[in-house]
Amino acid sequence: MKNIVLTGFMGAGKTSVARELSSRLGMKIVDMDDEIEKEQGMTINDIFARFGEERFRELESEMAKKVSGLSGAVISTGGGIVLRKENITHLRTNGHVVCLMVSPEAVLKRTSGSDVRPLLNVNDPLGKIKELLDHRMPFYKNADIIIETDDRSPRQVADEIIEELKWKE
Ligand code: S3P
Repeated sequence: MKNIVLTGFMGAGKTSVARELSSRLGMKIVDMDDEIEKEQGMTINDIFARFGEERFRELESEMAKKVSGLSGAVISTGGGIVLRKENITHLRTNGHVVCLMVSPEAVLKRTSGSDVRPLLNVNDPLGKIKELLDHRMPFYKNADIIIETDDRSPRQVADEIIEELKWKE
């Protein structure tokens, strides 16, 4: 059985939507950032602070290869997974790639009050969100299924994904 691979920017709702899909479809959840944290024995924040973003991207690519071997899982990726083309190539070998789209304003609303995302711990988070989103948009658009998430609950987003997947089986 194919995996469902959730991509999209920070705050797009990947984790909440993964939970919905998992309970509705009876599929296990694999959160790539959680797996990296478990494997490294430190938080994503610490990995960025101690070793830098490039090292994190390497760990992320290794994890993408590893989880691509799974089947029947909902795989929640980190927002930067699309930055390396090979990550998506691996994840797509046994998975439908679903991108959750979100506006910069919604990202700000959903992520403010949390400091677990090193890239957004800056003076002007909205400016940073816009810059990163602009750069990444062509890569996000390369997904098999694209879903808008602004003003929608994780349940509504999951409904739409399930509907779209019926045409892909
Ligand atoms: C990142 C997104 C984060 C995490 C890391 C880098 C990014 O995951 O992987 O902080 O580059 O967009 P979430 O998208 O789950 O917040």
